[in-house]
Parts: sequence; C-alpha cells; structure tokens
Amino acid sequence: MSKKIIIFDTTLRDGEQCPGASLNPTQKLEVALQLERLNVDVIEAGFAVSSPGDFEGVNRIAKAIKKPIVIASLSRAMPKDIEASAKALKPAKRKRIHTFVATSEIHMKYKLRKAEDEIIRIAEDAVKLARKYTDDVEFSSEDAARSKPEFLYRVIEAAIRAGATTVNIPDTVGWAIPSQFGSLIRGIRENVPNIDKAVISVHCHNDLGLATANSLAAVANGAGQVECTINGMGERAGNASLEEVVMALKVRKDLFGAEVGVDTREIYKSSRLVSKLTGFVVQPNKAIVGSNAFAHESGIHQDGVLKYRKTYEIMHPKEVGYGESKLVMGKHSGRHALNERLKALGFKLADEAALVAAYDKFKVLADKKKELFDDDLIAMMEDDAVASSKKYSLEYLHVSSGTGVIPTATVRLKTPDGKVVQGASSGDGPVDACFNAVDQLIPFKGKLQDYIIQSVTSGKDALGEVKVRLELKGRVETGNAASTDIIEASTKAYLNAINRLLFFKGGNRTRP
Ligand code: KIV
Ligand code: ZN
Repeated sequence: MSKKIIIFDTTLRDGEQCPGASLNPTQKLEVALQLERLNVDVIEAGFAVSSPGDFEGVNRIAKAIKKPIVIASLSRAMPKDIEASAKALKPAKRKRIHTFVATSEIHMKYKLRKAEDEIIRIAEDAVKLARKYTDDVEFSSEDAARSKPEFLYRVIEAAIRAGATTVNIPDTVGWAIPSQFGSLIRGIRENVPNIDKAVISVHCHNDLGLATANSLAAVANGAGQVECTINGMGERAGNASLEEVVMALKVRKDLFGAEVGVDTREIYKSSRLVSKLTGFVVQPNKAIVGSNAFAHESGIHQDGVLKYRKTYEIMHPKEVGYGESKLVMGKHSGRHALNERLKALGFKLADEAALVAAYDKFKVLADKKKELFDDDLIAMMEDDAVASSKKYSLEYLHVSSGTGVIPTATVRLKTPDGKVVQGASSGDGPVDACFNAVDQLIPFKGKLQDYIIQSVTSGKDALGEVKVRLELKGRVETGNAASTDIIEASTKAYLNAINRLLFFKGGNRTRP
C-alpha cells in the first residue's frame, strides 16, 4: 500500500506574507473555496492574532469549508496567539492550532535571547495549551534546518510528549540542499524516540531555488506532510510550490510510491485565481502553471509531439486542468507543425511544393514577429490574392487634434477603379475621426470589433503596429499596418481590413 502524503497549503498564511500580496478576508475566502475544490488536506487560513482582517479571514474560512479539510491558524508559542487561533477556528469541522518557536542558535541568541531549556519549556507549554482547544496540534521548530540536530531532537520529543500530532521541520531561510535536508529528516526518524506518535512535516523556502527539491528529499526520507503554496508564493523567494510538489509525486510515483489526495485538474484554475487576486504574474516558464509549460516552438519538438506526445511531455496538460498543449508558431517551428496548423484553419495545400512555398513565406514573417497567431497565418495565406486585387489606398491624411480641440481628419483615398475621393469628419479622438472620414468614402460600413496597438521596436521612434478587426455580415477580417506615426498606421490598418472585406465580399475565398 502506498503512503498518503498530506498536502498542507499555506498560500493564505505564508504565501500571503510575501511583500505586496495581501488579500482581504473576502478574497481569502474565494481562494479557500478553490483550495477546497483542489482537495488539499490542510488549509492554513492565516495567523489569527496578527490582524483583525486575518482573524476574520480564518473565521470565515472555518465556517465556510464543507469538506473534512483541516483548517489551521498559526500562533507564536504564546497564550494570546493560541487563544486567538482557537477562537477564530471555533466553527471549523476539523481545526488545527499550529504553534512555533525558533530552535536555531542564531535565532535563540539574537532574536529570542533565550537558552535551550527555556525554548523547550516554551514549546511544551504552547503545545499543552493548544491541546486544550483541539486534538490536532502542529508544532514547528522555526529555522530547523540551521538548528543543531541533537537539540532539535530534544525539542521535537518534548513537543510530541506535550501532545503535538504533527512536527514541522521548516527550512525557514531556504538554506538547505536536498541531500542534507533528507538526512536531517532521516536523523529525526532515527533519533526521536516517540516520533511514531506524530507526522513529520516539512516547510521549505526557496531562497536557493531548492524548496521543491528539498521537500521531495524529505518525503523520500519519511516526511508525511509537505507545506506548500500555490505558484510558490511566500516570504522572499517564496515557498515550495504546491503544483510542483504534487505533480512530482504523481509523475514520479515510480520513485516515491506515494499518493496525494489533490484533484490535480484544479491546479491551473487555482494558479490563475491566486495570480489574479494577488496581482502576482506567473512567469511564463514556471513549471506546471506557466504559459509556456505546455508550449512547444522548436520544429524538432513539434514534430515529436505531433507524432507521439510523450516524446516531449511528461504529463498531459489536462491532468493539471490546462487544456491542450500548444504548438507555438514562431521562427523555430517546422514544416510539419505549419502544415497541421494550416489544415486546422481550413487551408488545403495542393502538394509538397505549395507547402514549401507557404513555409518560406512563414519563415520571413516569423523573423519579424515573435509568435504567429491564427489571424497572421490566415492573412499570410490570403494576402497575395488580396494584394493583387483592386483596392482602396491612402493618398493623403491630415489630422487636427489636441486639448480642447474637436479632433478632425481629412482623408484622400484612391478607389478600386482609380478615382481619387476626399472626405472629412470629426470623432472622439484622432483615430476615430480618421475612421469616420474613411467610412464616408466607401460603400459599406463594417463594425469595428477590435483595435490593438503595440510597439514593435523601442525608443522614441518606435514603430507602432496596429491591428484592426472589422466585421461585415458575419465575416470578420483583420487589417495590419505599421508606421512610426500611429494615426497613419491606424488608418492604413483600417483600410487594409476594408480591402479584405471587399475582396471576400466579391466571392473570393481561398479557404472553406
Ligand atoms: O518558515 C517558517 O519557519 C514558517 C514557520 C512559522 C512554520 O513559516
Ligand atoms: Zn515559512
């Protein structure tokens, strides 16, 4: 039978402690409800004594969680902290008081100014008091990784004797490395006489980028609980990331032989929610939940994934609720991937020569743009036909705009049959005025669906690229144009979209 590893989520306590990430009680509740769907075993809902907001957060979560998930609140080894946690946790179906005191020489000497025996007495008293409120008490030796192992064994033994049911071994400053941290856990198992009466937990910080690795080394050496946070949020460089720990245990079950109760399909949603509420953007290459975690751009990888997904993917994106893997069309993409994408977009290339020609064009475009989206590929395939068709072109543009002035534009166009026509109009802004002036000169009016502007070069003379999406009777066309003058780029992009609508309106279709 494989061992179950308890997943203790501390996003709402240690995660929320990271600078700039604070959440109000309503937001905390929203995250807790998602953690309930994720099916973690323990939710550390806050540090009840630290502020009225934290107390309210713990209390509302304690009331709201329906599943038999343990709700925990952190408390220093002090009566007022423990009492505040007990009060806030009262409505919880299953409650845990989590109390801690530092055990490393550096913390005892400089921060607490207390001797070893005093620390042991503080730990015992705190655990005994907490046990008056609940049978489920966790004791943490803060800075355990830098504590003297012999002293740590004594503290842990005393805490268990006083009633602790979980003993947590934090690497508070992210100092440990996996082999050493694994040995520490093994040492605790071998040297604390009553260790079988408690679960060994680990709580790793990421200062050296080793939080997940250290947590896994601990599991391999007998830890039964891992404390972690969504997206690895937490003090300084953060905590062990829940998604990494859980997926490592799942993907490498062959090594760990451990089970987790987490519903991994809820991982991506949880990550998005925490990112949205805290405003902390997830880096694209973040394991499991980054936007590139299941994206392939290189031709060799795309070819491999198209032939057999497992050649380059160790887990299915659906397992973490991500949907499908993404083949990013960029300059490293190969012909196989381009052909597949074009097929999916409805383009049937007549033969290998047509594919080679399309691929050559694609490479030229890909050199100019980081990623080619479906719109770009459609435009690429249809552009030649549109370019050689008869169309509107911009001959002259004059815009007047400024503070306290009604923006007006005068536009002169060459029509598809070679005439030159001129119109003028005002608008809400200079771009709107240009679009209105163009509308006066063409025989139909499309509906503007989207207008996107971005700089494609940097500096004061940056080239602005404008993308305009126009809809006419259900058909949507995109026009692009670039210029150092964004008003001119906007007008040209608008005309571009109009020319495309005109071309396809005339029954010219190159794809189904
Ligand atoms: O990092 C740490 O030591 C902690 C404890 C309070 C568990 O967060
Ligand atoms: Zn911590």
